[in-house]
Amino acid sequence: MLREDAEKIQTAIIVDNRPLVSDVYHLILKAPKLASEAKPGQFVMVKVASGLEPTLRRPFSLHRLDRRAGQVEIIYQVIGKGTDILTERKPGEQLEILGPLGNGFCLQEGKRVGLVGGGMGIAPLLAVAEQAVQEAIEVVVFLGARTGDYLLAKEEFEHLGQVFVVTDDGSVGEKALVSKPLEEYLQNQQLDLILACGPTPMLKALAGIVETQGIKAQLSLEQRMGCGVGACLGCAFPVKAATPEGYTYKRVCHDGPVFGAHEVLFSVPKEVTKQGGCSCGQS
Ligand SMILES: Cc1cc2nc3c(=O)[nH]c(=O)nc-3n(C[C@H](O)[C@H](O)[C@H](O)COP(=O)(O)OP(=O)(O)OC[C@H]3O[C@@H](n4cnc5c(N)ncnc54)[C@H](O)[C@@H]3O)c2cc1C
Ligand code: FES
Repeated sequence: MLREDAEKIQTAIIVDNRPLVSDVYHLILKAPKLASEAKPGQFVMVKVASGLEPTLRRPFSLHRLDRRAGQVEIIYQVIGKGTDILTERKPGEQLEILGPLGNGFCLQEGKRVGLVGGGMGIAPLLAVAEQAVQEAIEVVVFLGARTGDYLLAKEEFEHLGQVFVVTDDGSVGEKALVSKPLEEYLQNQQLDLILACGPTPMLKALAGIVETQGIKAQLSLEQRMGCGVGACLGCAFPVKAATPEGYTYKRVCHDGPVFGAHEVLFSVPKEVTKQGGCSCGQS
């Protein structure tokens, strides 16, 4: 690890760690340096346990930044070994984190900004919504989730701007994909910029919509990560480039996770698409 990356290792104190829904937890960390340095859209690598296992840190977006209190918030879904261990960590305990990492969102081009979140992709959008409102930028929020229970931070978003929700089961809002209310909105209204995070099929659909409508968009990508600092190439993702092949690979952790919708390549032939995982075989 480079020295500048090693300097980003810090010890956070767990303030709270409790379930919002059965398999989704809200983690609040006292981490004054991180809270003061981080910007919306960046992420941290969390060492979920102090021992050797699991070896690799896990990447999580910064859901909320409370600079005054010196706290950051993360919302995480319990997926496997690492996130399962994280659920057992208690307030008052220390947690080693590496961050802030990545580039984050850029609000400069927007006066009215659309935020589009699908599933756990909703998590990083609250921090950028709060920053936008502080900068007198109007936000219009589009949230999609499996059920109403997974419409994370819906009430917080409702304090910040107009919110449209859909669910897979129709329990809250229409039974639809999140692209539907966005497309309906764009029939009568305008957005200067769209910021989005969610599953790859959602981002791909969105990239098509913004291309047709001529709207600038930034997409936060998620790839499996090993190191989180650009060293292992485990998170490489194809992007358009002036190469003989017409594309190159960029590292989601180092060059992203936020990319312009126009540069992300979703449809390279399957045999050249590098799907995540750290090549060292560790977990
Ligand atoms: C930039 C970024 C931001 C993220 N933000 C959030 C967030 O805010 N909330 C949240 O719930 N999840 C987030 N994720 C996904 C989260 O990192 C994984 O769900 C988590 O690492 C799973 O770890 P595990 O040990 O429980 O699962 P395991 O399956 O045991 O993990 C094994 C390995 O795969 C990696 N991995 C597994 N799934 C993913 C995935 N979907 N993306 C990346 N790496 C993965 C792990 O880091 C680990 O190295 C984010 C991922 C990235 C890349
Ligand atoms: S996770 Fe190692 S290069 Fe991105």
